[in-house]
Formats: sequence, C-alpha cells, structure tokens
Amino acid sequence: MPDSVSSSPASPASPAVFPPAFLWGAATSAYQIEGAVREDGRTPSIWDTFSHTPGRTAGGETGDIAVDHYHRYRDDVALMAELGLTAYRFSVSWPRVQPTGRGPAVQAGLDFYRRLVDELLAHGIRPALTLYHWDLPQELEDAGGWPQRDTAFRFAEYAQLVAEALGDRVEQWITLNEPWCSAFLGYGSGVHAPGRTDPAAALRAAHHLNLGHGLAASALRAVMPARNEIAISLNSAVVRPLSPDPADLAAARRIDDLANGIFHGPLLHGAYPASLLAATASVTDWSYVHDGDTRAMHVPLDALGLNYYTPSLVSAASGSTGGPRADGHGASDHSPWPGADDVRFHQTPGERTEMGWTIDPTGLYDLVMRYTREAPGLPLYVTENGAAYDDKPDPDGRVHDPERIAYLHGHLSAVRRAITDGADVRGYYLWSLLDNFEWGHGYGKRFGAVYVDYGTLERTPKSSARWYGEAARSGVLPG
Ligand code: NOJ
Repeated sequence: MPDSVSSSPASPASPAVFPPAFLWGAATSAYQIEGAVREDGRTPSIWDTFSHTPGRTAGGETGDIAVDHYHRYRDDVALMAELGLTAYRFSVSWPRVQPTGRGPAVQAGLDFYRRLVDELLAHGIRPALTLYHWDLPQELEDAGGWPQRDTAFRFAEYAQLVAEALGDRVEQWITLNEPWCSAFLGYGSGVHAPGRTDPAAALRAAHHLNLGHGLAASALRAVMPARNEIAISLNSAVVRPLSPDPADLAAARRIDDLANGIFHGPLLHGAYPASLLAATASVTDWSYVHDGDTRAMHVPLDALGLNYYTPSLVSAASGSTGGPRADGHGASDHSPWPGADDVRFHQTPGERTEMGWTIDPTGLYDLVMRYTREAPGLPLYVTENGAAYDDKPDPDGRVHDPERIAYLHGHLSAVRRAITDGADVRGYYLWSLLDNFEWGHGYGKRFGAVYVDYGTLERTPKSSARWYGEAARSGVLPG
C-alpha cells in the first residue's frame, strides 16, 4: 500500500486520530465534590435540604464532605495536569457566591473559584464554568423555586456577579446543566431536589429555566469580553421507538418533545413545538409564557454542550397504564413525563453499566449528528459522558477498570466518526474526574477516572485515567 493512503495511527485520516485543537477534559459539579458546605458564608442549597431529609438519598448520604475538593483543589488540579488533561468543566455553587439568591456576592465564595481558575490556567488547563448544576439556594426554593418566574431573574443577576468576577479569565461559559433534570426530576418525579411531584410545576420550571438561561446569556454578553463562549449543557435524549408501528413512533415523538424540543425549541429555534403544547394541554395552559419571553430565551449561542449516557427505548402502552417504569431516572410513583402516562419505557438490549444504563455509543453519534443538522454552524462539545462501575483497589492498591476504558474508547470513537461525517465537535469532557456524590444514589456509584477512598479521601488514578491521559497527550485513542 503506498504511504499516502496508509492508515497508520499517525495519519490524520485514521479513525483514532483527533483534530489537534480538540479539548480533552473531565467534568465535575460543585455539590458533588466540594464539601465544606458551611464554610465561608455558604448557606444550604436545595440539595443540602434534600439529602438531609430521611429517605431521599441512598443510605442518607449527603454532600457535606463529598470529596473535600474545596480544600484539595490544588492537588486535584495538579493531578489533572499530571494526567495530561487540557480542559476542566466545573460548576460554581450559587449559595457559596450569593447565599440567599439575592443581593451582593460573597467575596470569599468568588475568591475560591478565582483561585481554582488561576490554578488551572497556570497548569495550561482550559476552564469551562457551569453556572448552575442543580444547587439552587434554599431561600429561592422557599420563595417558589424554578416554577416561580422571579427565579429566572435571580439567576441572571447571579450570572452577572460571577461573570464580573471571572469573565476576564474563563472563556467557556455554560449557563445551565441538564435543565430537564432540574425541572422534571426536581418537580415531577421528585427523585431530585427539591423533591416535588407536581407535573404542572415541572412544566413551569422548564419554562423559567429556559427564561433564566436566556436572561443570563444576555447578562453575560453585556459584561464579558466578546471572545468568551456562551453555551448550555443539555441532556438531550436519544429516543428510539420500539417498533415502526405508528403508535410507537408517536410515543417516541412525544418523549422527544418533552426531553428535547422543550429546550432546543425555544433556545435554538425561537418557539416551543406546537406538538408539545398540544400534548401537555391537559396538564398546563402555558399562560406563564409572557409576551417577550420567546425573544429573551432565543439568544444566539456560541456552542452547545451535549451530555450523553444511554438511549431511551419507548412504545405506546398498548392499552395498559401504570406498572414499573424503566426510564433510567430513579424509582418514583410519579412520572417525570407530564402528559405521557400512556408511554412505556423499555430496557434497551446490550451490556449495562452499574447504573443499569445500556452501553450504546451509536446513541452519541446519532445525537451529535442530529444537532449538526438542526443547528448548522453551531460548535458542539460533549460536556458529559462516562460510566459507573464497581471499582475496587487491587491488593497492590491499583484500580483496574478495563470496562471504563472500553466505554470511553467506544464513545470517543463515535465522536471521531461524527467529526469525519461533518460534525464540529470541539471537545469531550469525561464524567467524572473523581468518584463523587451521585445525587440520590449517594457514593455507591463510582463514575470517576480517579478512585476516591471515602475513608481517607485519598485519590488513586484508575487505569482509565492513564488511558485517557495518553489519548489527551497524543490526540490518538490508544489500543
Ligand atoms: C448528569 C449530571 O450532570 C451529573 O451531575 C451526574 O452525576 C451524571 N449525569 C451521572 O448521572
């Protein structure tokens, strides 16, 4: 074979070779890793309240200490640098910066994030800052939370405070993380904080999250340097019908509207899908959508963040309703899907991770290609992807996690294939840097590339962390 068409690993045409500017990151969020929940003026968020309420999280576990990143951030950044990561996505804790959700910022809270960012920059790691990863100040929940319109305005004010403090040194900004979870798990099925189970409130919350995103994006634009990028991270669902039967296709479209269209409709296209409004008419009249909201939500984005773990397989209920749900979002008697009680979720075939989520990299490929078509020209980032496994140290103290390496290899290959097919994917953030507090599941589900001993809080890179670091250093998937 002549050299020019050889597919050696060094060839840019090889399916394992990534573009030179591709970002190799890891992601975390404040409540899942920081701990220090009562330090430097921080007040409770809805997740402090929820996790301290008996019966809400596995074993009653909380983020009080988490992995103590608040005190160990320097070591954690040094570890990222040693591994070879080029980007890090973290979130700012709203109640650390603006404890009541109103009024001036607490300097100590902002200072923590400034120190973290400076440490990252000093190590050549690009920070990506998420403003809201689910930790609403409890005082704002007491005033009505996300179903309450004012929360959107409070969020924009908080966004501006953070942007004024860090806009000169953080270039990548993400307004909301997975607003679907905030709205539908927080106010619909109640498996996330604040644990409410009111379908109409979940839809109101979704609208006010969209509005909060738009108002915050405008506030960021007004105070930050023009070079900074503004994005949102959506957990856009990959919804597959169980069969080509028209009833199953309609069920899949309904879930697609409730998972995807409800956010990308107003944010990318300037309107809620008519089919969504019709399908939810028995739950809400949408009268809380004011004149002008559509314009406020439809702010041009610089990039879109996609979080992907597993696809959803759905069908029409074929006459029966109720019974167990398998939508992957935790056990509850209440559905997180308003107006879709007649839709059934099925276990997708194939191997599963410790979360019970089926491993399917084609879902990530399909997702990236969908947004490549729906939002042409908009750069994409995979802002979360990863897997929980029951990792344990060997007698020699090392943690071997070949399943996670296979998971990462499969999903990164899917991203590479999408790039070959025309997708503008600029980076990948592995979820997660460290084992951490997995919300309602507590500490039992380990997503980290770095193992954390919860007794000593000692960090040990798993073999996947070394594998990923090698990919980051070389731009080529090993193995
Ligand atoms: C989505 C969330 O953003 C993150 O906080 C969570 O830990 C992972 N998915 C895994 O469930």
